[in-house]
Amino acid sequence: MRDSKVAPRLLRMFFHDCFVRGCDASVLLDSTDDNVAEKDGPPNMSLRAYYVIDQAKARLEADCPRTVSCADIVAIAARDVVNLSGGPYWDVFKGRKDGKVSRANETLLLPTPSFNATKLIQTFSKKGLGIKDLVTLSGGHTLGFSHCSSFEARLHRFSDIFDMDPSMDFIFANMLKEKCTNKHHRDTTSGYYLDSTSAIFDNEYYKRLVARKGVLATDQVLYNDYRSKFLVESYAKYETLFFMEFAASMIKLGNLGVNSHYHGEVRTNCRSVN
Ligand code: HEM
Repeated sequence: MRDSKVAPRLLRMFFHDCFVRGCDASVLLDSTDDNVAEKDGPPNMSLRAYYVIDQAKARLEADCPRTVSCADIVAIAARDVVNLSGGPYWDVFKGRKDGKVSRANETLLLPTPSFNATKLIQTFSKKGLGIKDLVTLSGGHTLGFSHCSSFEARLHRFSDIFDMDPSMDFIFANMLKEKCTNKHHRDTTSGYYLDSTSAIFDNEYYKRLVARKGVLATDQVLYNDYRSKFLVESYAKYETLFFMEFAASMIKLGNLGVNSHYHGEVRTNCRSVN
C-alpha cells in the first residue's frame, strides 16, 4: 500500500523466477564472489522489491522455521498482488523447494521485447505453455511500467520504409517519442505505463491492444498475429473470461520445474543457500 511499484515488481518476479530453472526462488539468491546470480542479469535489474519477500520470510521463520520455501512465498505474493489490485484469486499449490543454483547468463532464456510472434510462441511452448497461456499471462502487463529502452526501437528508424512502427497508433507513438527523446527530461528512469490503468488489474491492457496502443512490440504483436488475435479480442470484451484464464495460467506457470525434496531445500534466508 505504501509503494505502488511493489505489485508489478512482485508479479514480474514470479514470472522471471519460474521461467528460469523453474519456480525455485533462484531469482532471489544474491551474487557471491565467484558467481553472478540471476538477480544481476540484464532483465532483472529493474525487479527490485526483494525487501518485501525478505520481510515475509522473516515473519515466517519467526513463527514456523524452515517450513515455507522462498519459492512458495514468491508464488503467493504474485497471487496476492494481483488480487489486491482488483484481479482474480486462486489457490496457490504449496510445497516448492528452493534451488541452490542461480546464474545471470540463464536470464537470457527470458523473452525480450524484440521477439516476434513465432519466437514468443516457441519460447512459451518450450516450457509447456501454449498460445493461450502466452496471451493470458501477457495480461500481467495490465500492471506496471516500462523503461524507454524496452520499446524505443518502435519509435525511430523502425524499418527501411517506416520510421515508426506502423502497427502503433500514430498519436500514441508520438506521445511516447516525446517522453523518450526530450533531451531536457530524458534520463534512465524515463518510460511509460504498460497500461492506462497501471495500478489496477483489469482487462484494459487488451482494449489498448485492440486500439493499437500496446507499449511493447511483444504486446501489440498478440493482436496483430492471426494465431492470437481472437484471444485478445475476447479478453478485451469479457473481463471475467480473462480473470478465469489468468488464474488457470498462473497455476500452470507456478508448476514449472518444481523441485522435489531431493534437489531443494527450504532456505532460512531467501538471499543465500542454507
Ligand atoms: C510474453 C513475454 C514477455 C515479455 C517480452 C516481457 C517483457 C517485459 C518488459 C520489457 C518489461 C519492461 C521492463 C522495464 O523496462 O523496466 C516488462 C514489464 C513487466 N512485465 Fe513483462 N514480459 C513478458 C511477459 C510477462 C509475464 C508473463 C508477466 C507476468 C505474468 C509479466 C509481468 C510484467 C510486469 C508486471 C511488468 C511491470 C514491471 C514494473 O512495473 O516494474 N511479463 N515486461
